[in-house]
Amino acid sequence: MSFRYRKTTAPAVADPAVASPAQPSAEEALWEAGIDKERVILDVRDLVRQYEQSDEVITAVNRVTFKVKEGEFVAIVGASGSGKSTLLHMMAGLDRPNAGSILVRGQDITAMGPDELSRFRGNYLGMIFQSHNLIPQFTALENILIPTMMCRKPDSAYEENLKKLVVSLGIADRLHHLPSELSGGQQQRVAIARALINMPHIVFADEPTGNLDRANADEVLRLLLETRRMLGQTLIMVTHDMSIAEQADRLYRMDNGRLEQCNRRSARLAEEEGLGGQEQ
Ligand SMILES: Nc1ncnc2c1ncn2[C@@H]1O[C@H](COP(=O)(O)OP(=O)(O)OP(=O)(O)O)[C@@H](O)[C@H]1O
Ligand SMILES: [Mg+2]
Repeated sequence: MSFRYRKTTAPAVADPAVASPAQPSAEEALWEAGIDKERVILDVRDLVRQYEQSDEVITAVNRVTFKVKEGEFVAIVGASGSGKSTLLHMMAGLDRPNAGSILVRGQDITAMGPDELSRFRGNYLGMIFQSHNLIPQFTALENILIPTMMCRKPDSAYEENLKKLVVSLGIADRLHHLPSELSGGQQQRVAIARALINMPHIVFADEPTGNLDRANADEVLRLLLETRRMLGQTLIMVTHDMSIAEQADRLYRMDNGRLEQCNRRSARLAEEEGLGGQEQ
């Protein structure tokens, strides 16, 4: 199976709504000065994504520039509709930007053709979707194994990981059930196993605990952080849960398509404001 970029009819990016390029903040400049350039695993430059709707252009991601180093846990917070999922989908190679570049380990994924990208994603990138995106006709096990079809590794390459994942996620006895026969929490766990099956270098997680109760949310975070520690993975997570975001190495806030590094206090304030204006 190969995932292809969604087609876009978005216009050229000379739209006046597109902001000027972002300059790194003092905090980011300091962070960059302190790291070895070789360790930058993700380098996003001037990324723009626009949607055209009737006569309106929505700039969902507006000249976003940021870098992440190998092994980091970065959390992104922000109000509903601020562009978090759009940004994550592009970084995970599931959507194409109108402008800008996304370098993963120095390779620009926006310049790759569909097949090359599909293989690259299979080998390096894992995505946990906001809504699980499980294929309803596939069993839990078949859903989990989808990414293994993209990178042409022998079964033995992921068998051990599969065993570990399904046991630690508590879904070992649910593998032959369809998603509709699983609880919401179990479906989310299947989606997490699918994202981790290939032991990706970068895991993108879009509100992975959004549909879970506190105990399950904490358990899922524990698992993601443990996997990250064991495999030296980089974790980029969108979350509205400040108790989770506060455990990240660095925090970013998305506001109307713009991404800014922020501290815990301003992230918490932004979340409170965002949730105040959000339909629940
Ligand atoms: N396929 C699409 N077509 C048109 N507009 C879209 C599309 N996808 C997203 N948008 C718009 O882009 C903006 C950003 O959406 P996005 O889903 O990235 O927000 P979000 O920050 O993830 O929100 P939430 O916290 O509710 O998940 C919104 O205004 C949304 O309506
Ligand atoms: Mg979203």
